[in-house]
Amino acid sequence: MSNTPRSVTRVIDTVRVLEGGGFPVRRPFPTATLDHVDPFLLLDHFGPIEWGPNQAIGAPAHPHRGFETVSYILAGAMMHSDSAGNQGKLGPGDVQWMTAGAGVIHSELPDPEFKRRGGVMHGFQIWVNLPASDKMMAPRYQEIGKAEIPVARSEDGKVEVKVIAGEALGVHAKIATRTPILYQHWTLEPGASIVAAVPAGYRGLVYVFAGALELGGRRVREGQLARLSDTGDTIEFSTQTATGEASERAELLLLAGVPLDEPVARHGPFVMNTREQLIEAFADYQAGRLTTRV
Ligand code: CO
Repeated sequence: MSNTPRSVTRVIDTVRVLEGGGFPVRRPFPTATLDHVDPFLLLDHFGPIEWGPNQAIGAPAHPHRGFETVSYILAGAMMHSDSAGNQGKLGPGDVQWMTAGAGVIHSELPDPEFKRRGGVMHGFQIWVNLPASDKMMAPRYQEIGKAEIPVARSEDGKVEVKVIAGEALGVHAKIATRTPILYQHWTLEPGASIVAAVPAGYRGLVYVFAGALELGGRRVREGQLARLSDTGDTIEFSTQTATGEASERAELLLLAGVPLDEPVARHGPFVMNTREQLIEAFADYQAGRLTTRV
């Protein structure tokens, strides 16, 4: 990298809303003012919420076609099962990278034992778009446990990064992506400073979910999404404060990817390139063909 710093072009505030049956979610996008950031289609930050015994809810069986859903759990336990025959249990620190491709029907529910006992649920789901050439690929399922996710640390020990996708501080992720993607969970102790690589040609986003930090010349706080400039190949994160504010510990997700630059036609659980393909997806789902057309 040539170390040309990126700046922040926009900071978006997010608010907590209640989804479905009363599940608190922050959704920086899609919103009325930001539909997607190519190649990312959605970012949901769910919880933290403390469920009482037998209260926890999730998403019963629903379809997807044309993109990938990626779940990363910080607290709690989820159960996944899908029409491609994959089953999994996700606990704290685990990642599930599901490529819906031509079609998957899946359920994402609290683990039954977690539901019975109750407890804190907290995590993220992102949607990553697939290029036109992959939208009708056979579904793929990658489940990577916490212990298998590479972790890198700065020399001074004040910065830690969990490398879910891409490369950070010289450490490579295990998960295979269809197009070049960075998905990283960075934690900065107070007074920390680090330069992260966001290669040229990637679009970049930073979502802060704990504390506050300076990045790209702006102070960004918990619940805010920062859109990085498209030029440059690094971004500096710092919990050192020039402004005299108290230095805080901060946690963030760094998302970046090479844009597909293809038309996006989306409706509910389907993301295709044309309206005709969306209509076909609904027709296939209603006719029970969604999971067999590969
Ligand atoms: Co889903």
